[in-house]
Amino acid sequence: MSLNTFIQSSDELSVHSLSNQPLRLELGQRSYNIHIGRNLLDQTELLAPWVSGRLAVIVTNSTVAPLYAQRLHNTLLAAGGEAVVQVVLPDGEQYKDWQHLQLIFDAMLQANCDRKTVVLALGGGVVGDMAGFAAASFMRGVDFIQIPTTLLSQVDSSVGGKTGINHPLGKNMIGAFYQPRMVLADLSTLDTLPNRELSCGLAEIIKHGAICDVAYLHQTIADISAIFARNEYALYRAVRRSCEIKALVVGQDEKESGIRAILNFGHTFGHAIEVGMGYGAWLHGEAVGCGMLIAAELCQRLGRLSKQEQALLHQAVEAVGLPVQVPALGLERYLSLMALDKKSTGGQIQYVLLNGLGAADVAAVPNAVVAEVLQAMGVT
Ligand code: NAD
Ligand code: GLY
Repeated sequence: MSLNTFIQSSDELSVHSLSNQPLRLELGQRSYNIHIGRNLLDQTELLAPWVSGRLAVIVTNSTVAPLYAQRLHNTLLAAGGEAVVQVVLPDGEQYKDWQHLQLIFDAMLQANCDRKTVVLALGGGVVGDMAGFAAASFMRGVDFIQIPTTLLSQVDSSVGGKTGINHPLGKNMIGAFYQPRMVLADLSTLDTLPNRELSCGLAEIIKHGAICDVAYLHQTIADISAIFARNEYALYRAVRRSCEIKALVVGQDEKESGIRAILNFGHTFGHAIEVGMGYGAWLHGEAVGCGMLIAAELCQRLGRLSKQEQALLHQAVEAVGLPVQVPALGLERYLSLMALDKKSTGGQIQYVLLNGLGAADVAAVPNAVVAEVLQAMGVT
């Protein structure tokens, strides 16, 4: 299941200017554009086809609302929106649950939303996943638009249609595949994003390089300072290349019956860290970064990754400011948390494994080998 056959290293890696041309995720009738650029929040012409004459619901959170909600609200009215409703959720992974999903339905019913209503997710991946799931289920499905405002959501979660909430027993366990009508990745919103969150986005960017584009991994390492300086070309290059990779993978396998699973590299371990530490203690990108290092140790022991390649991945994760020390949850706890992974089939966990940097596939690994890896990384 190597992707290299259809993902070539892209000319985009050398971009020095922002293109007005959107990317397109090809999914037949569910195809959509991914627009990337600065100040897209103000562009009425992009939003008008989706909101004109319709009630628009902005779902956001208490951190993002004071920064960007009024600006989007004004643009939606200027684009011909009939009226705009704002739903402001509390901020945090610990609120990505049934109780807070219900707040979106409450507000939509109180505002007399109907099947023509359009939902706009304004925020990071938590808001995007929750708003998308609300849109998938309200009156059995209304249109929604992703307006990601974190690097992680611009390079990953806003594209591909995975929506949902957490359960106390497992991460993202309740949800639906439901594609947005459009993605607007406004790079200027990253100006207010804390550096710790930027590091989380870089975890997913490193993941994309590691699984299918080693040139992109090297480019990312070279661009780290520019990305933290919010250099618009470096940000554009990363968001565009990651979205391009995601669009190619999802276009092949929308509902993860095969190749899409490789986008979860590091996630089997990462989700165990997130749940085990308590939602919100480790940020998603931090858990994925550390999870990739555990997965890399596994791949090295299986003879799939050289020590040099493993060291390069470790260097990248450390250089972007992500934690590299595996948290001490206890061996048994790790194994029981990982048994809940969504990639498990017949009780057997399927791991995303690298075949050298830039290629990946999925396979089962004996628990004893995984236990050895965790122990080698300090878990007892
Ligand atoms: P997040 O949504 O919690 O956002 C991170 C923080 O940044 C929050 O405090 C948020 O309020 C704040 N913020 C957002 N935009 C800001 C801005 N422009 N300026 C200042 N602060 C801002 O976290 P995230 O990293 O964006 O997303 C993580 C979530 O995404 C997890 O729940 C994860 O499971 C999910 N995810 C989903 C997919 C998918 O395919 N659906 C893929 C990857 C991750
Ligand atoms: N983040 C994994 C996926 O979208 O499939």
